[in-house]
Amino acid sequence: MKVIRTKSYEEMSRVAADVIGAQIIMKNDCLLGLATGTTPLGTYAELASRCAAGELDFSKVRTVNLDEYKGLAPDHVQSYRYFMDKHLFDLVNIDKANTRVPDGLAEDSAAMGLAYDEYIESVGGIDLQLLGIGHDGHIGFNEPDDCFTGPTHLVDLTEMTIDANSRLFESRDEVPRQAVTMGMKSIMQAKKILMVVNGEEKKEILKAALYGEITPQVPASLIQLHPDVTVVTDIEDI
Ligand code: F6R
Repeated sequence: MKVIRTKSYEEMSRVAADVIGAQIIMKNDCLLGLATGTTPLGTYAELASRCAAGELDFSKVRTVNLDEYKGLAPDHVQSYRYFMDKHLFDLVNIDKANTRVPDGLAEDSAAMGLAYDEYIESVGGIDLQLLGIGHDGHIGFNEPDDCFTGPTHLVDLTEMTIDANSRLFESRDEVPRQAVTMGMKSIMQAKKILMVVNGEEKKEILKAALYGEITPQVPASLIQLHPDVTVVTDIEDI
């Protein structure tokens, strides 16, 4: 595992964009696994400005997102499809037909999840998976649990995640209580993992994930077993 410490959020975002940009340059039709949340916003802004400057070409890039809220339509302003369109896909020359986000409206989430994983496998797996980390150690929406779950699946969000995400909704009541998330199988089978983490308040959970016991109670700890992980963080003493 490689840990790159940066002096600021801006530098973290530039370094993360360097890693993703290098992936696109090395394989122009790569499959990127993408995350939402506050942390990658700067990374996406960097990628968009590099694309506008003609330095990156997304025309053949394919993407799969980690997760989506259960019950939110793609055009709902809090949906992760909406987020991705707004912060990346509408700002680069990607073919939207090549971008996938789990379907939060699917009646049968298990069947949808199976098809999602089959698509990932059918195009050769994820080349580079971008991850953030939740305050409770979640990646995607794989919440602390008694076991790791492999396939894309439906999850109940923890109170901690509902609290953390309520900052983005009008009120806590509006935060969906469930989500569909890529499971550990597709994440761990990605050829490379890039995790971005910013802010001192994530220091303890990041330490637990990178150096603590590998346990489903800290889902991110599983990436210790992945052979090619790069963590970029502005947190000191990690
Ligand atoms: C979202 C996702 C989540 C976030 C995590 C951190 O697609 O995968 O695991 O990465 O909740 O979110 P922020 O960056 O908002 O702190």
